[in-house]
Amino acid sequence: MVSKKVESALNDQVAKEAMSSQIYLAMASWAEAQGLEGVAAFLYRHSDEERMHTLKLMHYINERGGHAVVPALAKPPKDMKDIMDVFKSILHQEVEVTGEINAIVDLCLKEKDYTTHNFMQWYVAEQIEEERLARTMLDKLNLIGSDKGGLYLFDRDLMASGNTTA
Ligand code: FEO
Repeated sequence: MVSKKVESALNDQVAKEAMSSQIYLAMASWAEAQGLEGVAAFLYRHSDEERMHTLKLMHYINERGGHAVVPALAKPPKDMKDIMDVFKSILHQEVEVTGEINAIVDLCLKEKDYTTHNFMQWYVAEQIEEERLARTMLDKLNLIGSDKGGLYLFDRDLMASGNTTA
């Protein structure tokens, strides 16, 4: 059984993961409209991953005697400045999520809820991967700079990789 405090924190995280999915979806649509098919495919996949993060939390809350709440979602930004802006926003977003996950882990320890603490370790590990991925993408884009051929290859590689680490 989760305490009301932990249930509330987990439900807040449900809303944040769902919002992440929305944000990635908007970025994917922007990239697709720009003709960046590989980047778009990567972002659509990432949006799906965030929905999976949302559902995993919802199932856990319900299985532990709480009630997972489906949140209202704000409209995400429609336009991005450029591809670099997309991946800078992603890194910023993921660093924020890591902080939120850490706060829940901290609350679990304070509440002596070792079951939820154990459950949250999956998210702790996932955030390491999410941040690593965003930094890797940014490093590549920094190398490419304003080289259009480089951007073409970056996009094509993302399409070809069917990236599963998103
Ligand atoms: Fe669910 Fe990208 O953190």
